[in-house]
Amino acid sequence: MTRYRVLVVGLGKRGRSHAMHFHAHPRFQVVGLCDIDAARLSETAAVLGNPQAGADAAAMARDLRPDVFCFCTLPHIRSEMVRVAVDCGARLIAFEKPVALTSEEGRKVKELLSGSPAKVVVSHQHRYGKHYQAVKAAIAGGEIGKVHTVYGVAHGWAAHMLSHLIDYSMWYNDYARPRWVVAQAAGRHKLSDAHASPDYVAGFVQFENGVRGIYECGGGAPDVPEVQRWWGKNRIGATGTEGYAEVYTGNGWKAVTRNGISTGDGVMAYDQDMPGYIQDIADWLECGNVHPCCFENAYAGFEVMMGLFRSAARGGQVTLPLPDSADEIEDLRRALSGAPLQATLEESRKEYGC
Ligand SMILES: NC(=O)c1ccc[n+]([C@@H]2O[C@H](COP(=O)([O-])OP(=O)(O)OC[C@H]3O[C@@H](n4cnc5c(N)ncnc54)[C@H](O)[C@@H]3O)[C@@H](O)[C@H]2O)c1
Repeated sequence: MTRYRVLVVGLGKRGRSHAMHFHAHPRFQVVGLCDIDAARLSETAAVLGNPQAGADAAAMARDLRPDVFCFCTLPHIRSEMVRVAVDCGARLIAFEKPVALTSEEGRKVKELLSGSPAKVVVSHQHRYGKHYQAVKAAIAGGEIGKVHTVYGVAHGWAAHMLSHLIDYSMWYNDYARPRWVVAQAAGRHKLSDAHASPDYVAGFVQFENGVRGIYECGGGAPDVPEVQRWWGKNRIGATGTEGYAEVYTGNGWKAVTRNGISTGDGVMAYDQDMPGYIQDIADWLECGNVHPCCFENAYAGFEVMMGLFRSAARGGQVTLPLPDSADEIEDLRRALSGAPLQATLEESRKEYGC
């Protein structure tokens, strides 16, 4: 059995998890590890039997010619890494959310990828959690009737969390295409973060199948009392004509239908979510089954996020797909007042400097 040769770039929290789970799968062989941080590099290399290691992703990609180029660096160097991935001729490119921080950068990524035959996957892997799957099963099984609304709430800031909220809620709506968005935002503190974002953004999406999306992300979002842990205080779900079903990232799920109330457990955990995500990469390479985290779905969600930022900065409804590109973070910097965020939760104050 030939194994797909994998190069993993960026060995922080997410890169290590990707490298470990590729390594653990019989169809993959991690042939290279890359990080500019020597300590991180040697630490991960030692655990994975010391494959080739280095600090220059482009040189390693040229040298190794991997089947899979996986990068888990911070979001500011997306197009740079995608160019390296495309140039080395990888059959599959896997990278972390968000697709980019601005539509200018996202469009560069899309253009680079459109000139390549590579399959592309973006890591929205929470969906493999059994609680996320249970909610999908309830919705797809018709238990909540005809879906009219999908929604997502999180307290972490948008470049971390909104991409997740949008992707899973769009999954619950069978990835119907978004037509327009409208939004408001507040708080400039996280505009200078590595995951540059407004401190709070709230908005609406109209999907082509008539379903409405409602999102609140950041320090002004309502509490999710079902969950204790701050990063896990996310509510993602759908309401239909017969009830609702929703997942709590850090604590299970619930469906309220005309047949009664169903609940179950589940907590977002990389070790539980990554095996399915990696298996679907193998299946896409081998059998042609399109990965549920394919770039096409991720990019549609990314445009929702950029549309929300744009609407918050400029006002009005923003039509999707976006007709042009912009630096939405710069737009928000100009548009948002310097007033500190009014945070909902006491524990959000240190994050949002308020
Ligand atoms: N899908 C999820 O559940 C999830 C969870 C957390 C973070 N993320 C995303 O994963 C990405 C990485 O996050 P993280 O928390 O692992 O970050 P991190 O800062 O822990 O790791 C990034 C690593 O990239 C390395 N790096 C930076 N520039 C490099 C370069 N030019 N070449 C090689 N290595 C380079 C850094 O030294 C660091 O080790 C982000 O986009 C983040 O949004 C996703």
